Order: sequence, then C-alpha cells, then structure tokens
Amino acid sequence: MEELIYLDNAATSWPKPDEVYDFMVKFYRDCGVNPGRSGFDKAIEAGNILEDLRARLTRFFGGDTSNPERLCFGYNATDALNLIIQGLLSPGDHIVSTNVEHNSVIRPINHLVRDHGVEVTWIPFDKDGFVDPDDIKKAVKANTRLVIVNHGSNVIGTIQPVAAIGKICRELGVTFAIDCSQTAGVVPIDMQEMNVDVLAFTGHKSLLGATGIGGLCVRKHLDIRQTRSGGTGVRSAYPYHLEEYPFRMEFGTPNMVGVASLWKAQEWIQKQGGIDKIYAHEMKLARKLVAGFKNIDGVTFYCCDSMENHLSTVTINVAGLEAGDVGIMLDVDFGIATRTGLHCAPLVHQQLGIDKIHGGVRFSIGAFNTEQHIDKAIKAIAEISERARQMKQTRLQSSK
Ligand code: ALA
Repeated sequence: MEELIYLDNAATSWPKPDEVYDFMVKFYRDCGVNPGRSGFDKAIEAGNILEDLRARLTRFFGGDTSNPERLCFGYNATDALNLIIQGLLSPGDHIVSTNVEHNSVIRPINHLVRDHGVEVTWIPFDKDGFVDPDDIKKAVKANTRLVIVNHGSNVIGTIQPVAAIGKICRELGVTFAIDCSQTAGVVPIDMQEMNVDVLAFTGHKSLLGATGIGGLCVRKHLDIRQTRSGGTGVRSAYPYHLEEYPFRMEFGTPNMVGVASLWKAQEWIQKQGGIDKIYAHEMKLARKLVAGFKNIDGVTFYCCDSMENHLSTVTINVAGLEAGDVGIMLDVDFGIATRTGLHCAPLVHQQLGIDKIHGGVRFSIGAFNTEQHIDKAIKAIAEISERARQMKQTRLQSSK
C-alpha cells in the first residue's frame, strides 16, 4: 500500500514532529501526575511545565507577558470560544461577527440569539474572501459588546485584516476577539499590536501539538464572566469557583499530555527557524497546487486568485461531480486525504453559493507535505476531471 498523502491539515496537522511524539510518551511515563494539586516533586515538575508553557504561549501571542496567568488552558478553540462568547454577552447585547466563521463561533452565538435575547450581525466577505473593516465599523451599535472574527478561514484560507479591525474596535470601545484556530503556528499574532482583547487557540493544528489541548489568552483589562465552575486544586474550602486567573477560566485536571506536546512543539517550531519558515514552505506548495489546478479544465476555485494574505488551504470543485464524490475518488483511487462538504463553516458556503451543491473539496497543506504530494494531487484532479468529462459525454450520447 502506498503512503497516504495527507492534505487535511486544516482539520488537524498530521503527522506531528517525532520529537513531539517522543516527548509526550516520556513526559507521561516520567511525570504524568496532577499538577498544582500536591507538593511532591513530580507534581511540582508537572506544574512547572504547565506554567512554562503559559509563559511561552503568552509571548508567542503577544499577550501581557507580566500576566502569563491570563493564558488559560482548555480542550480546544471551540471550548475557549464558548467561554468567551457566553462569558461576555448578556441579554440585550449585540455582537458583530462574519461569514467566515466556523460553527465554533456561529453556534454559540446562535444559541444566545435564540435563547437569551442577544442580537447578531453577520458581515459578508468580498469576492476575494476578505472582510472589510469598514463594514465592521458600520455594524457596531450602542449595544455592541463584542466583535469576533475568524483570523484565517478553514475553507477559503483567507487571513482577515485583524489589526485594522482591532484598531476600529479600540476606537469604538468594543471588545475584540479572534479565533486563531487556523493561524496560530503559521501566521504571526501580536495581541497588543493588533488590539486583540482575547483570542482562542487550538493546539492540534499548526501549533503541532496533540488534540484536546487549546485555550484562550485574555488581556489584563478584560474580565470574562464565569460560566462554569469546578475543581482548581487550590483553596478547596472556598464554595465557589475562583475568580483569579488562570483558575477563572480553567476547570478540573488539565490535559497534561497535550501540554507536553505543545511545549515540545514550540521548541520544534523554533528549531525550524520559526513560523515564517513553515509558512513559506506551506505557501510555496499552495501556490504550486493552485497553479497546477488552474491548468485543468472544469476546476472552480474559491478566493485564491491571489495567494497574498492566504493560508495554504485551497477549496475547489470539479465540474460535473459532487464534492463528496471527488473526495472519495481522491481517497480510494489516489490515496489522498482531503475534507469535503461544508467544513463546519456553513456561512462561507452559503455566501459562495455552493451550500446547495454540498460544499467543496478542501486541500490543506501542512509542515510535512512535499512537492511530490502536490504533483500527485494535481495529477489526481486532472484525471478525476477527465473522468467527469467522459461521464458527461457518455450521458449525452445515451440520451440522443
Ligand atoms: N475545523 C476543522 C476543519 O476545518 C475540524 O476541518
């Protein structure tokens, strides 16, 4: 069996660096105890790696480095986004968000709209896939409490102008949150420079850690209302959840294998020369993929005329075929893993008008993809497109 060509890195990066796998196992064997609960050496050692990662990620995201406790760990970006959205909005509030959002933002907002008297305005993107910061500005009202934007789309790959949006939010006095699920680890993020008040991240995509670890980074001028409560490991006699960070936004035993994975992955990324190097590698391959697809008749692209301000995520359709069928052919006939359908981001597909045809075929490139993978993907789509033409020809002939 030939090696699988994995082009589904927007779902989760795979493989991870060998050093990450090795360290996860070593850490869990040697020190897989509960941090912050007990005073024996190993518990302190586990706590140290957790605190060190907090500090590393605070720096990585340009958060308030004197307040690393405001980098709080959870399961993933969805988990963090629920804490942010539910903890910042109250009945009567208005929220501004965009059509590039993932369901991790759309659904928590829709629940508040349906059940708790919150109002929402969804801002469309332009033909190239970018949200105009002026449109955000126009949508802000007296009761707007939060603007939340997906930094990088998991479908069309466009990177939104978050610094310009952050500037507007700061001027208008509205809290600004970003979902950096797709950008953290490949696109520089500086919360202070970008005027981001709070961000949500996941560890298992371009940060190259394991699944089940993610979190939020909250600037020190912002407080998020608690919507959960539970164990913190400290002040056990206190009858309520602690208000100070990180406890305020952390509930129960953390995912320490995930913490270990992210800690090692941060080191690995630095060893590669940093995120710019990884981004450059991925984008070289993404440009090659798009150029190759452009030579194939019947391939439709979405928002990749220019690959500037773009991630290495490319969604297409092949004339005459359902996206799902193309995905099956790629998998079964060519050993290429992609993701098809609506990608948990239905508003993107609705705005592109492809929701009715069941979405698109997404190729998402990661740090470990090679030129050969891209050559094979281009060849596969050329063959699939040719099959679609022949099928159409056969149908036309048989209907004569
Ligand atoms: N949000 C992930 C994706 O786009 C799971 O596939």
